[in-house]
Amino acid sequence: MANRILVAGGAGYIGSHVQKQLLEEGFEVLVFDDLSSGDEVNILDGAEFIRGNILDKDVLDMAMSQDIDGVVHLAAKKAVGESMVYPEMYAENNISGSINILNAMVNNGVKHIVFSSSAAVYGMPQYVPIDEKHPINTINYYGYTKRAIEENMEWYARLGKLDFAALRYFNAVGYAKDKSIRGKERNPQNLMPIIMEAATGKREKFSIFGNDYDTKDGTCVRDYVHVSDLAKAHTLALKKLMAEGQSFTLNLGTGLGTSVKEIVDATEKVIERKLNYDYAERRAGDPATLTANAKKAYEVLGWKPEYTDVEEIIRTVWNLEL
Ligand code: UFG
Repeated sequence: MANRILVAGGAGYIGSHVQKQLLEEGFEVLVFDDLSSGDEVNILDGAEFIRGNILDKDVLDMAMSQDIDGVVHLAAKKAVGESMVYPEMYAENNISGSINILNAMVNNGVKHIVFSSSAAVYGMPQYVPIDEKHPINTINYYGYTKRAIEENMEWYARLGKLDFAALRYFNAVGYAKDKSIRGKERNPQNLMPIIMEAATGKREKFSIFGNDYDTKDGTCVRDYVHVSDLAKAHTLALKKLMAEGQSFTLNLGTGLGTSVKEIVDATEKVIERKLNYDYAERRAGDPATLTANAKKAYEVLGWKPEYTDVEEIIRTVWNLEL
């Protein structure tokens, strides 16, 4: 019988791509999502759906009791700036909600969890590319919530309750090439969807935050990893946990650094016209360069990103508009 996976946050941007990858690999998928930021159009044919909030322990327990073999947990709030203004909201959703998931797993004998973590746990890089041994000096509350759950999973694993894969994403971008995922994020805070809103006329212009960084062109450098590659890492991680039951923590990035200006220039090439933008002040808390050393993901999972060309990545987003 196929393994049955509960995907918390499965209607969201990354979650929907994980859902797609799981279905393609023959898993049964139960999406658990409250649609607060996810989108019902992202629930694919073949997936089951329970509309629920991870703060609602009864509904969560009901879902977890339905012959679940493993969990992928991506249900979280993720706006860094907002987390510094409303930490209590992030504490409740990201920390209490995640503890509810872990406890529902333990109560129902579900052993394996793949957790959506973030490069934000590292804080200001002391060196780049960042490997998993880099010191953890989280500088925003969002990143802290991710680290807090990693630590709880480490304890639960040590106490024999479950095993986990903590996947620390760098900058997730792109959409499935076959256009099967069409839901857009509402009020996006990240560079790529903001640029796309400018490209489609949904916003008049955007700003590049800072052009005086110590980087190739003065704008910040990030590691942009395609969401389909991220999704693939989740299924590999899940299979590894199911086969071996050993927990692990991995960076997911390409190892390549692309500047904000390069992203803007590449987008202009793809859409074949100029974008309307200006240069603004630096944004608080932005490191100049943040790239991943993802060797461990290759060693542990045999994972290697297929998308390494930013223009190709941007095309997967622009295609949705054509
Ligand atoms: N940027 C702009 N203008 C904008 C938005 C962003 O210039 O309108 C710049 C930022 O200053 C930054 C870069 O584009 O230099 C990328 O910014 P994002 O907000 O898209 O992403 P971040 O690198 O700040 O953070 C993202 C996730 C975090 C995660 C981190 C890990 O939002 O959750 O990647 O690398 F931790």
